[in-house]
Amino acid sequence: MTDDNAPLGLGRGLTNYGDNEFSLYLRRSMASSMGYSREMLSKPVVGICSSGSGYNNCHRLMPELVEATKRGVLAAGGLPIEFPTISLGETFLNPTSLMYRNLMSMDVEEMIRAQPMDAVVVIGGCDKTLPAQLMGAANAEVPVVYVAVGPMLTSPYDGERLGACTDCRRFWAKFRAGEVDEPGIRRIEGSLATTAGTCAVMGTASTMACIGEALGIMLPGTAAIPAVHADRLRAAEASGARAMQLAVAKGKGRLLPRDIITPKSVENALRVLLAIGGSTNAIVHLTAIAGRLGIPVPLDRLNVMSDETPVLVDLKPTGAHYMEDLFAAGGLVGVLKELKHLLHLDAMTITGETLGERLEAHTGWVDHEIVRPFDKPFQEMGGLVALFGSLAPRGAILKRSAADPTLFEKEGRAVVFSSLEDMAARVDDPDLDIMPDDIMVLQNAGPKSPAAMPEAGYLPIPKKLARQGLKDMVRISDARMSGTAFGTIVLHVTPEAADGGPLGLVRTGDRIRLSVKDRRLDLLVDEAELEERRAAATPQAVQPTFKRGYRKIYMDHVLQADGGVDFDFLRSVE
Ligand code: FES
Ligand code: MG
Repeated sequence: MTDDNAPLGLGRGLTNYGDNEFSLYLRRSMASSMGYSREMLSKPVVGICSSGSGYNNCHRLMPELVEATKRGVLAAGGLPIEFPTISLGETFLNPTSLMYRNLMSMDVEEMIRAQPMDAVVVIGGCDKTLPAQLMGAANAEVPVVYVAVGPMLTSPYDGERLGACTDCRRFWAKFRAGEVDEPGIRRIEGSLATTAGTCAVMGTASTMACIGEALGIMLPGTAAIPAVHADRLRAAEASGARAMQLAVAKGKGRLLPRDIITPKSVENALRVLLAIGGSTNAIVHLTAIAGRLGIPVPLDRLNVMSDETPVLVDLKPTGAHYMEDLFAAGGLVGVLKELKHLLHLDAMTITGETLGERLEAHTGWVDHEIVRPFDKPFQEMGGLVALFGSLAPRGAILKRSAADPTLFEKEGRAVVFSSLEDMAARVDDPDLDIMPDDIMVLQNAGPKSPAAMPEAGYLPIPKKLARQGLKDMVRISDARMSGTAFGTIVLHVTPEAADGGPLGLVRTGDRIRLSVKDRRLDLLVDEAELEERRAAATPQAVQPTFKRGYRKIYMDHVLQADGGVDFDFLRSVE
């Protein structure tokens, strides 16, 4: 618990020189060198945790957002102080951005704890940054208001709209199938991502922004505002002002993240995730965020909720539209209102209202073409299901809303790739022994593999089958998939192959049975045979290349998908 509810400004958490008065005197002296007056230095401090980087295109407008947030803090009578953390630009990190999510979360957590601030506004949004920042902020002893950078706009292209990144994959698949030529794909490459902001569809970034709003840690109505829209700056300004109110609030009014992120709000977030046809990655991230506060996200609960919760939002990759359309349709509030009877309306939000009070107060317009009514949904059942069985004892995830239902009840022959390298080397080989009815299996792409759970679960359809016009196959792996991808793809198989999971024991020619109806994923090989294979196998978890530094910490402590791929020592200690 915090030692004092009153704002202490720069006097909070003094540097230890063995003489507190000296510490404060020295801190003020150093702060004065930045040109602040004594009056400014005596105000409550609102930290602004920024995550701009030349390696993060999505956060390109961070300086504007920080400026607007500062304006809100200043107008409300506080001293805004910006500080940086690392940033995770999705496509710029090797081997994966996920590997660094936990590092960023530690940076955020420790810098909020170590530096003097009475409240903090945290700004981010690219795929792994929002989860990292909420994981890091979850245990903060000061109020936290989250601001998402907002989604990109689409661009016109030959009579249609393009937006990262469902269209990235759609056109890449066409290019691989020979339907788009070299100059064509170059032109598309230049049109997919043309503004600041996060990917324009209901990918992981937009899903997590909606989850942030559903959790109540962001101001209402802010998840879908485009990055370049003036409302986005107004949202940042209002967030700065709200953080300042929270900084000086007393008693119960001084809401901490743990007052907002609760079992009830986490369940609300899971509900919203299903209703928006959100990203599979969000399961891992929500598990990690909630896990920092000791709140479980059980996959069997997901299955129950998935059957009760229709997909309401017609957005890519599940539907046809983009985040700018959800914004124009009135934003996430339309979804929350349609789900009202399934939500915990007494969950507290950062505004100080409960979710129910907030929905009650909303009178704005909702476009029911984009946000469908509950009784006329876009799809009857929730987007995500968990599968269990001999191939996935602790679960696997399928995004049924973005998959081909004709493949949901299927037994087929496994065609196995033992690693990403193996897949890259063979998948397009014209002599590859593979038929449209086979089930593709990728091993050793989970959290402990050298690949560190990349978004490689969207295994490419082998070129020879793609050229025959095949668009989908059952594909199974311990990897993740981009929130923007489409297909009958079973992900996050737990335990992973590199951790001794049965996925590592599958051999080409084995039979696998998928039943979405029964929520099963089974390897049809008898136990004695598997025992023999197990005895002969050496899991690939030992990483000779990761002997020191952060990567060693990662390998030593990373949990499986059912632990949110968090580190064991960062989960809540009760
Ligand atoms: Fe940042 Fe897609 S690259 S959200
Ligand atoms: Mg993504």
